[in-house]
Amino acid sequence: MISKTVLVTGGAGYIGTHTVLHLLLAGFKTVVVDNLDNSSHLAILRVKELAGEFRNNLSFHNADLRDRDALEQIFVSTKFDAVIHFAGLKAVGESVKKPLLYYNNNLTGTITLLEVMAAHGCKKLVFSSSATVYGWPKKVPCTEEFPLSAANPYGRSKLIIEEICRDVYNAEQDWKIILLRYFNPVGAHPSGYIGEDPRGVPNNLMPFVQQVAVERRPALTIFGNDYNTIDGTGVRDYIHVVDLADGHIAALLKLDESDIGCEVYNLGTGKGTSVLEMVKAFELASGKKIPLVMAGRRPGDAEIVYASTEKAERELNWKAKYGIDEMCRDQWNWASKNPYGYGSQKDSTD
Ligand code: NAD
Ligand code: UFG
Repeated sequence: MISKTVLVTGGAGYIGTHTVLHLLLAGFKTVVVDNLDNSSHLAILRVKELAGEFRNNLSFHNADLRDRDALEQIFVSTKFDAVIHFAGLKAVGESVKKPLLYYNNNLTGTITLLEVMAAHGCKKLVFSSSATVYGWPKKVPCTEEFPLSAANPYGRSKLIIEEICRDVYNAEQDWKIILLRYFNPVGAHPSGYIGEDPRGVPNNLMPFVQQVAVERRPALTIFGNDYNTIDGTGVRDYIHVVDLADGHIAALLKLDESDIGCEVYNLGTGKGTSVLEMVKAFELASGKKIPLVMAGRRPGDAEIVYASTEKAERELNWKAKYGIDEMCRDQWNWASKNPYGYGSQKDSTD
């Protein structure tokens, strides 16, 4: 059993909760810092319940990463072996309208975290990057060496943080940093007890589909059916959030075993699925019909994006296990048990 202590920023969020649960079950002591800007304290309570005998290995601080004093106190009270850094704002459209909010939150939060980590001699980091840094790739699958670009302030914040991490390692080579580029995380824990609960109108495909299925929204708008793909709709690499959570354990173990410097890995399945294929799989899993409305392309969207998984398989010894049928099954299980996420119909923003 592992007896290490990990700080998880943004651990009350969608990917964070699933990862924290897996950390606890693997024996890690886990401290979450989250300002609950896009999450609920109930999610933390549910993770504790799912963790059973390991529940007492989880502690939670409601704090903003930019609050240096609060972060200092957390580092003074606990010695961390590593940090997994999820905390950040992630809505692409909002980032275009409020770039300074995104740069302030994502960049200042990360820089403050890195400074406090360094001051306390904790120099192992796993950072949540994104496939968004591949922009509209010239070919697929995307390998980690592809040229990088950003189509919006959210994506640019990821690119800049990746660069900051490389600079930090170049300056002080006792840092060990893994940048994980997630493709499209979907699904939920098979218990249906934790899952994704976006505030307001969902930006992403599956949370929107899920809200149509529980009749919170009348129809799914399909953004473009004139792409050069199997059925004209955009193709993405959907990955089960439980597989993604496991990818973080693999990354932590990698930080321990070798002198890796600052290294980047894709976390995807390597398979492309179109919007219509995904909708069909969800209809099958849920038994619900999803009404569709065709619309034009969404600005900034790429045609086909999926991962090369070779490097992660080879070096992290990690491979996604689940396909889209399991993703849709678990997403529906969560949605049908929690149609209003962690809230209730009364406090939803519909
Ligand atoms: P999420 O919004 O559910 O979780 C992020 C958490 O960070 C939230 O709980 C939020 O309250 C917290 N947070 C934000 N700013 C904070 C701050 N300044 N201080 C403390 N806490 C703060 O998002 P998620 O889907 O779980 O994503 C986690 C990470 O993965 C993010 O960095 C996101 O950009 C990245 N990512 C997500 C996706 C995706 O599609 N979900 C894809 C690629 C990368
Ligand atoms: N789509 C629709 N209708 C919707 C939402 C999405 O047709 O209501 C389509 C999009 O056009 C795209 C596909 O569904 O073809 C997937 O869209 P998402 O918004 O779910 O995912 P993206 O690949 O566009 O982007 C997401 C996150 C990014 C992240 C990227 C890779 O929003 O922040 O995945 O991880 F970088």
